[in-house]
Amino acid sequence: MAEYDQVYRVVLVGDTNVGKTCVVKQFCNSSFEPEHSATIGIDFMTRTIELSGEPLILQVWDTAGQDRYQSITRQYFRRAQGVLLLFDISKRKTFDSLLSWLDQVKQFAPNNVIIFAVGNKADLDDTLKQISSTEAQTFCQNHKIQYFEASAKTSQNIDMIFQEMASILRKEFANECLFNQRNKIRDSKSTAIQLTSSSSSCPRDQRGADNNGAKKNEECCSC
Ligand code: GTP
Repeated sequence: MAEYDQVYRVVLVGDTNVGKTCVVKQFCNSSFEPEHSATIGIDFMTRTIELSGEPLILQVWDTAGQDRYQSITRQYFRRAQGVLLLFDISKRKTFDSLLSWLDQVKQFAPNNVIIFAVGNKADLDDTLKQISSTEAQTFCQNHKIQYFEASAKTSQNIDMIFQEMASILRKEFANECLFNQRNKIRDSKSTAIQLTSSSSSCPRDQRGADNNGAKKNEECCSC
């Protein structure tokens, strides 16, 4: 068994209130909080998953959807390997914003970034849906990205989406992944690390803080 775990970076983007934080927390913590507390700047959490019997760590970056944080958010696109473009299926405006988010990702992220679109809040009653699956699928086909519907509330499709992303990332970025020395991270379900606008985007700079406040000793080969 290899001495190092592979680490891949996935960034969540989309308008405020679409449920980015809830998706991250559902995936990394299996929890859901009904209150909206706007993300300030950027956070990340990690979770280890298993892919074909091998552990793989996803570092999931939760960005702020509010306009005033867009310049900070963009700085993180450049280091993204995967991006989830989120919208709220009950709010047309958030779907209409996808094109602008997609443009920004294409402008600032690496050319080979893997992009999925995710229509969140699929648990809501059909009468509240403002974007049909067909409309979202058509948009995604036109832009050559995969589309998923999900619910951070019920966890519907959340694990599946990250598994699918991870399996593509492992194929595409095997030579560009970060590495964590095995056994240095004791609990894959980490607490989010709050970054300020002046914080570096390099995970090396967050060494020393892991899930339990214990030393993480993270090594990063692509910084
Ligand atoms: P910003 O941090 O401002 O960018 O917002 P965000 O996109 O991170 O939204 P957040 O995760 O805070 O969720 C916004 C609101 O939507 C909260 O009240 C959540 O409880 C609610 N919400 C998130 N996901 C779901 C879901 O799958 N279903 C339902 N019904 N509500 C959800």
